[in-house]
Amino acid sequence: MINECLEALITDPKGIYVDGTLGNGGHSGEILKRLEVGGTLIGFDRDMDAIDRVKEKLFSSEGKTVELVHDNYANMAEQLDRLGVEKVDGLLLDLGVSSFQLDIAERGFSFQQDAPIDMRMDQTQGQTAGELVNTASETELADLIYRYGEDKASRRIARAIVDARGKQEIRTTLELAAIVERAKGGRKGKKTHPATKTFQALRIAVNDELGGIERVLETMVERMVEGGRMVILTFHSLEDRMVKKFFGRHVPREESLQQGGVRRIYEEPAVKWIWKKPLTATDEEMAVNPRSRSAKLRAVEVGV
Ligand SMILES: C[S@@+](CC[C@H](N)C(=O)[O-])C[C@H]1O[C@@H](n2cnc3c(N)ncnc32)[C@H](O)[C@@H]1O
Repeated sequence: MINECLEALITDPKGIYVDGTLGNGGHSGEILKRLEVGGTLIGFDRDMDAIDRVKEKLFSSEGKTVELVHDNYANMAEQLDRLGVEKVDGLLLDLGVSSFQLDIAERGFSFQQDAPIDMRMDQTQGQTAGELVNTASETELADLIYRYGEDKASRRIARAIVDARGKQEIRTTLELAAIVERAKGGRKGKKTHPATKTFQALRIAVNDELGGIERVLETMVERMVEGGRMVILTFHSLEDRMVKKFFGRHVPREESLQQGGVRRIYEEPAVKWIWKKPLTATDEEMAVNPRSRSAKLRAVEVGV
């Protein structure tokens, strides 16, 4: 869906574009290619490894400006203030973890490779998922697995985690995956690993992913130029619901008045959906990139 993202995002090739999730720099590279002299790309990632890798690929040249910022996109507005940028023409968010983060065992995101349970996108700060698993109360664990993993077996899983850590600290991803698998009664012939939702829940919790999305949407909808575009690619229903609800409040709906006429109801600034329904990946894209199976692309134009 990279072409759809860029077509929706770029309205003025001399404008200022923010990629909130640099990752491997794939989207940013494409943005930069499409910008003309005078255009600016500002890229964020809270993972210093991503910034270091992308630095080699993306740099200011041919009259285009590139700024790379190591920070949470939740702090985007403050960082734009620091850079002296008031408004931007486009914001892109490609949410979740990068393939790079998943593939490196030591980052502790994957239950397919054994490593300490870290899962922090920004390894310079915050609690690791291992610390959370070994210290949170049973109720806290059950609640977060239910809320962020939407796993109905959350109570059983939390109990099993607390039992296991009572005997010995849970140190690695494979130990944790095995505890969850046992608690859920094995694989039962299913393709997805029984620990998938628990791992997703812990990742969302340690990185405060939903809090970050809410904050970046709330602050950045105010920082878009008239006609600017916000383009968001989500990978699970919690993210997508949040994006849909947030913009839903800004899309004007008309209400008939008793005395005649209509009133537009919405939160300022008004936005309009670029596509009525979110775009999803084609079969070909899913075959090449299995992660795109659950992807949903939504975009809005601000100030209508
Ligand atoms: C799915 S990847 C992006 C891939 C990228 N679009 C590309 O083409 O290579 C998501 C990236 O966003 C980063 N990220 C996730 N949440 C973030 C946040 N709150 N603030 C800044 N970066 C974040 C992750 O560290 C990861 O590198």
